Amino acid sequence: MGKVYSGTILNPLENNKIDIIYNGFIEVENGRIINIGKSEIKENNVIIPGFVDAHIHLPQFNVRGTFSGNELLPWLKNYIWPEEAKFSNLDYVQEVAENFYKDLIKHGTITAGIYGTIHESATEKMIDLMPIRGRVGKVIMDRNAPEYLSETTDEALNATRRLCKKYGNKHIISPRFAPSCSMEVMKGVAKMAKEHDCYIQTHLSENNSEIAWVKELFPDSKNYTDVYLQAGILGEKTIVGHAVHCSDEEFEVLKKTGTKIAHCPTSNVALESGIMPLDKVIKFGIPFALATDVGAGPKTSMLDVMRCFLDVHDNLHANPTSALYYATLAGAEILGYGDETGSLKIGKSADFLVLSIKANMGESADSIIKRLIYESD
Ligand code: GUN
Ligand code: FE
Repeated sequence: MGKVYSGTILNPLENNKIDIIYNGFIEVENGRIINIGKSEIKENNVIIPGFVDAHIHLPQFNVRGTFSGNELLPWLKNYIWPEEAKFSNLDYVQEVAENFYKDLIKHGTITAGIYGTIHESATEKMIDLMPIRGRVGKVIMDRNAPEYLSETTDEALNATRRLCKKYGNKHIISPRFAPSCSMEVMKGVAKMAKEHDCYIQTHLSENNSEIAWVKELFPDSKNYTDVYLQAGILGEKTIVGHAVHCSDEEFEVLKKTGTKIAHCPTSNVALESGIMPLDKVIKFGIPFALATDVGAGPKTSMLDVMRCFLDVHDNLHANPTSALYYATLAGAEILGYGDETGSLKIGKSADFLVLSIKANMGESADSIIKRLIYESD
């Protein structure tokens, strides 16, 4: 007999499709779900899968929400890069990483796609200290970065290769974004990803000034997405953050290559980047999931991201039930953990949250999730 948890169970199945069990139970043994069903016990809790944050920057934890009206590029230069430089100090890495992971767990996020810094040993420490399910990337910046935070192409390639070998898929190959990466380094890591069967994460088409800069830096490319296509970066195991300003032609390429999107609405609002065209992403059938993008997203809470998702998009494409799916199972799937977490199924890891909010008998999933989003943290 395993340990039994009971309450109203909300189990996301796909966008707009959710299983709801009033007075349900979940039985857990050795960290796995071994049974799930209807219970005799009337417990007022609500049970949902643990949250998945598809895109978050650990080293930006201490400066999250610091902008003073800056858009992406000045924000990186004025606030983010000086903070990331501090991660050459491993004591500082330890302190921030411990606080970061504690805070994520406190907010119910137990799976994540995480960016580190350019520092190899800092990234190792972030992986070694990770108490949740996730992948952490050593950020690659071999050009257009401040001198105090840059590396040569060879240094970037060698460190990335060592991390792929040492950590397998706990490490995720992370060319920061096209402006800070040479074509040579992007081609090199794309090849490495295929050799080691690794995941890749990067940023794409977030901000208009960024896009103009990419055009200048890569005059032979058709558009931003084409830079990554030419580098060989796009594919089934690649997650691009944002995709706010992509053209139809670019979305077509993302779809064709099997690339996934991390959708970061709180970040896009905070940096005034724009709003990702959700209707198009859904129309093109590109898999996507929600993410905080802390520190551009000011909060680590996925409930905050779900709230923003509902606020910025029309309710034809975004509703409470879909918000929960995009904050759990969709994230697990795009990060490659779909068989392990993100929903409540016999055999999956017991990655769920027992919440002290009351659900009424017969209350709709939309209504329960809406109250969760707007009334609790
Ligand atoms: N583009 C390149 N680097 C970053 C980053 O750290 N945060 C965000 N939001 N966008 C980026
Ligand atoms: Fe980001």
